Amino acid sequence: MKRIAVLTSGGDTPVMNAAIYSVVRTAASKGMTVFGIIRGYAGLIHGELTELLPQQVEYIVNKGGTIIKSARALEMLTEEGQKKAVKTLEDFGIEGLIVIGGDGSFKGARALTHLGVPAVGIPGTIDNDIAYTDYTLGFDTAVSTAAREIDRIRTSMLSHDRICVVEVMGRHCGDVALHVGVASEADYILVPEVKFDLDKVCEDILERKKNHREVSIIVLSEGAGDSEEIATAIKARTGLDIKSNILGYTQRGGEPTVFDRILAMRTGVRAVELLDEGQGGRVVGIRNNKIIDEDIDKALSRKKKFDTELYNDYLNMMNF
Ligand code: F6P
Repeated sequence: MKRIAVLTSGGDTPVMNAAIYSVVRTAASKGMTVFGIIRGYAGLIHGELTELLPQQVEYIVNKGGTIIKSARALEMLTEEGQKKAVKTLEDFGIEGLIVIGGDGSFKGARALTHLGVPAVGIPGTIDNDIAYTDYTLGFDTAVSTAAREIDRIRTSMLSHDRICVVEVMGRHCGDVALHVGVASEADYILVPEVKFDLDKVCEDILERKKNHREVSIIVLSEGAGDSEEIATAIKARTGLDIKSNILGYTQRGGEPTVFDRILAMRTGVRAVELLDEGQGGRVVGIRNNKIIDEDIDKALSRKKKFDTELYNDYLNMMNF
């Protein structure tokens, strides 16, 4: 292939720019021209593209966000939208596409591959909700950011003898909450994958108070409930001073961690290699610290498993 394109789609992550950098530099070293599609599939459907030169992507590895912007384009779910997307690629003479996004974005890549344009997916979402890869790009940074925020929240809770429900991202997946909770010494971790009993949590909090442990941090995955409602319910049952705090978009911004940067580089290189080999309909990822690629249909059919081993280690550690 001589001309390829890259787009970022869905919720952004702090390490999308690093992946763009890797794609553009690797492609340039193979003599390919790279186009950046602006605003994900929306830009592809409406013909918003710009050539990306290696010098334009210099020094963006440490910058959050995405220089080519991201969007969620419902039009791409329609046959008409997909055909328009193929037409844009044909008009620009683009032979292959790299999609950086979550599994919703991968469905667009699969559709384009079936319509004759080889597309390769790089897993870009902070949620870590993609089953075929151990880590998605942005997860490590989001977890590090959230853990540091909780360290700060705790100092205030300690000053006031308060309890705090801290809500972290993860639409349907508790991975962010689990990792943040373990890393920040949370007293309770509530995730959508594990049913929890709020009465039991309240009893436990009251028991802790009897033992002069006034402060509790409850890390709540957004998929497991609403932090304000849970805080109100705990207050009603315990009468204690309890606050809620939604970490929100801070988790999607800021400077990416070294782990994320290197993951972005490695997956970007492999994605370009696949297109160079003429292979589309694949997704790249990491398993046991090895960069892997897999058929996109197979990847999308896998069901994400919750890390019960880490969760049980955490519970055992807290059980004293
Ligand atoms: O990127 C995934 C995610 O961060 C989810 O955890 C969250 O529910 C969602 O994006 C919110 O994104 P937006 O507000 O951009 O739609």
